[in-house]
This record gives sequence, structure tokens and C-alpha cells, in this order.
Amino acid sequence: MKRIIINTPDSLSAILIGARWEAVTKLLPQNGVAVLTDNNLYKLYGERFPGYPVIIIKPGEESKQLSMIEKLAGELMKKGIDRTGFILAIGGGVVCDVAGFLASVYLRGIKCGYVSTSLLSQVDASTGGKTGVNLGMIKNVIGTFSQPEFVICDTTMLRTLPEDEYMSGLAELIKTGLIGDKTIIDTLENNYPAIISRDRDLLADLVYRSVRFKAGVVAKDEKESGLRRILNFGHTFGHAVELHQGVKHGFAVAAGMELATLFSYSKSFIKKEECERIIGLLKKYNLTKDFKMSAGKVRKLILHDKKKAGDEIHFVFIAGIGKAKVNKLPVDEIVDFYRHCKSTNM
Ligand code: GLY
Repeated sequence: MKRIIINTPDSLSAILIGARWEAVTKLLPQNGVAVLTDNNLYKLYGERFPGYPVIIIKPGEESKQLSMIEKLAGELMKKGIDRTGFILAIGGGVVCDVAGFLASVYLRGIKCGYVSTSLLSQVDASTGGKTGVNLGMIKNVIGTFSQPEFVICDTTMLRTLPEDEYMSGLAELIKTGLIGDKTIIDTLENNYPAIISRDRDLLADLVYRSVRFKAGVVAKDEKESGLRRILNFGHTFGHAVELHQGVKHGFAVAAGMELATLFSYSKSFIKKEECERIIGLLKKYNLTKDFKMSAGKVRKLILHDKKKAGDEIHFVFIAGIGKAKVNKLPVDEIVDFYRHCKSTNM
């Protein structure tokens, strides 16, 4: 088992990778714990949950609503959870986002910890303390920065993930490799069969490298006022695709990374070989899809992005494999590049 500590001004968060999730009982207080999970996870693992009251939500984005937080706070009250209480999330991105947000506002804040069950949440979403719910269709508009006490990443749990969930998580892993750890890219290129067969140890090592990089970024810039923006590589166009097409987050981010890679090449931030290598890797994992969207629609959706400042946005480019670079750009420059890609079939 490997441990990474995320050290921020107000908290310490321990990320435990390769641990068996059942060991979570050792990290919990004896009383005052409520477990939050979704129907799918409860069906798969519920029999082995620690012996605390369980609250079950529906899987998927529809549970990421403010009304859900109100409902869950009522459940916690009924279960007698007070200020010394603890919320244990057992789930993927949605469950952890909801649990983290609930914990950060319930009684002005109680402790929480996560057993992170999807690849996407293990490599990215469950570490770093972003919590929140959506506002209608727009993602994560209402939320907090609040670190969990711990996150357990048990890669044996990834075996039960639906195929599309798993592939969506691989896209976020590729993202971390591209912005910060070139060795992740080398491993993904050279170990396709083991990745596709979800080799537990190889995945534990990749999750470790991804979290190690992210922990370093979050420790320097928890609240995303600078460096942390690089974690949004592929997310500007990705969020537009996700909103419009309703595809899983990772597939949308992959589309965004493809566009951002071509954009980086057009600005000479990367060489042709690097551009081809990145697009080649996305193709290898079947992560390049043509989401047919008009430039006007893309513009409208990017203007909804919460990272936008006026008509400008911090756009994340790639400046070599394993290196990111952020430039503030007018939204129209991004849309013009998108239009150009469409018209030239790039
Ligand atoms: N998923 C991007 C971040 O945590 O900042």
C-alpha cells in the first residue's frame, strides 16, 4: 500500500493506494458515521460495508443537485449525526462530490472520507478537495474546496466497473500524463493488453503516479488561482461536449484534449511528432470521436464555463509531453480554431 499526503494550509488528506477497501473500518470513528453510496455500489459491495447506517442515492449526475443535499442533510439529522459525525462515501465521482459537499456544509462542516470506486475518481476527481453539485445542466457550479480525511483507492474495485466508465477514467489518466508525468504516457503506450484487462498492480502504480502529480499541484494551489488550472487540460471544449452530448466526462475530456493538442501544435508549442503521438494514444484507446457540434453551440457552451473571466478563458495548452502551459485567450479565438478544424477535417 502506498500513501500520499496532500498538505494544504487548513488540512492534511491521506490518499491510500493499493489498500483493500475493507480496511476503511480502521480509519473511522466508532460512532456517528453515516455511509453514503449509490444503488449500483450497494448491490455489488453492500454486504461488506462497515456496520453503520447507509444512505443510498441514485447513480449518475441526476443526484448532483442542491435539493439532494437538503434531503441528505435531513437524513443525517434523523440518524442523529452531530458535529462529531463523519460521512463515509463509497462510490465514484458523483457520490464523492455529493458526500464531500454535504460534509462541508452540514452543521457548518463535519469530517468525511472516501472509498473511491471508479478509475476517474481514483486518478483525479476524489483527490484535491473539489466538492459540489450542478446547477441544472451546468456542472459543479455550487461547491466548496474541502479535503476529505482520507481517500482509499483499491484497484480491485475497478474490475466491476462498466466498460464505458473504465475507458472514461483512462482519459483522465492520459490527461495527467500529458500535463505532468510523461512516464504515465509511456506506460499507457507500452502496456495496452494489461491496461485493457485491468491489471490491478499496474493500475495501482498508475493511480499512484497520477495522484502524486495532482497532490503536488493541489498543495501549491488548492483553490485554483494559478497552477491548478493545468488540471483542466481538455476541459474547456470537453465541458461543452459533455453538456451538449451528455457523454461520460472522460470521453468529453478526450475530445477536448484532441482539440487542445491540435491547437497547441498550431501555435508551435509542440512538435508534429508529439502531436501525432498524443492523437495516436487517444486513438489506441478509442477515445477520438467526432462530436458533431456547430461552432455557435460550442461558443455558447464555453461562455457558460465557470472558469471564464468576461469573454476570456484560461486555456490549457500542452508544451511537450508531460508539460502544460496556460494562456488567457478570448473565447472567440478558441471557437475560431474549432471552426477551422471542422472545415479542414483536422
Ligand atoms: N479535476 C480538476 C481538479 O481537481 O482541479
